[in-house]
Amino acid sequence: MYGVDDGADTMAETLEMAKMAYRNGTRVIAVTPHSNTPGSKNNFWHEGLCERFLEVKNAVKEAGIPLQILSGQEIFAKGEVAELLKNGDLITLNGSRYPLIEFPFKERSENVFKKLESVLAEGYVPIVAHPERYEFVTENFDSLIKIQKMGCLLQINTGSLEGNFGRGAKANAKKMLNHHAVHVVASDAHSPYVRTPVLGDAHEYISENYSTDFADRLLLKNPKAILENKTI
Ligand SMILES: [Fe+2]
Repeated sequence: MYGVDDGADTMAETLEMAKMAYRNGTRVIAVTPHSNTPGSKNNFWHEGLCERFLEVKNAVKEAGIPLQILSGQEIFAKGEVAELLKNGDLITLNGSRYPLIEFPFKERSENVFKKLESVLAEGYVPIVAHPERYEFVTENFDSLIKIQKMGCLLQINTGSLEGNFGRGAKANAKKMLNHHAVHVVASDAHSPYVRTPVLGDAHEYISENYSTDFADRLLLKNPKAILENKTI
């Protein structure tokens, strides 16, 4: 969604990203503008974002791109996330039980556990955004396994597999794949130039190094189940 954060700047860029995603095999995409971010007071799901979402959805349709656009946010874990979700200030992916939640890169694992527990307690199933980029995962991989056992879902960025977020993130991402401590691989797309919405390379990489079944699960089946609010 253009003009709302550090993603696309213009509608033209948004449409280019939609075309790119479609050409690369994506058929459904959830927009995830940064929300509840530090330093911002009301960076919530407000009327303006809702209007922008509908505008983008329409423009994609009018441009003849057969890509389904669904709502969502990448929620920064700040304040009472569960409360904010309940009263509609923050939203889950396509109205499901699954909010996408990100943490400060240097957050301590105890704080992450606490925050996730409070969200789980309200009946939501948090998807932890790009944990391979977090310091506590590099320091102690068991913390991530604990989060998985708590019932949260784990999402890897395609860019991490390519080494775009450093050697540590790449190593963590591969470790997550090796341990099956991952449920979704997603683009974390920001523009049509860098951090693009291309997922095909990740599917190919996982198919070749693990199995096609595993790649399908992470890039097709699980994301579909999430957006349809089904159990993983
Ligand atoms: Fe993020």
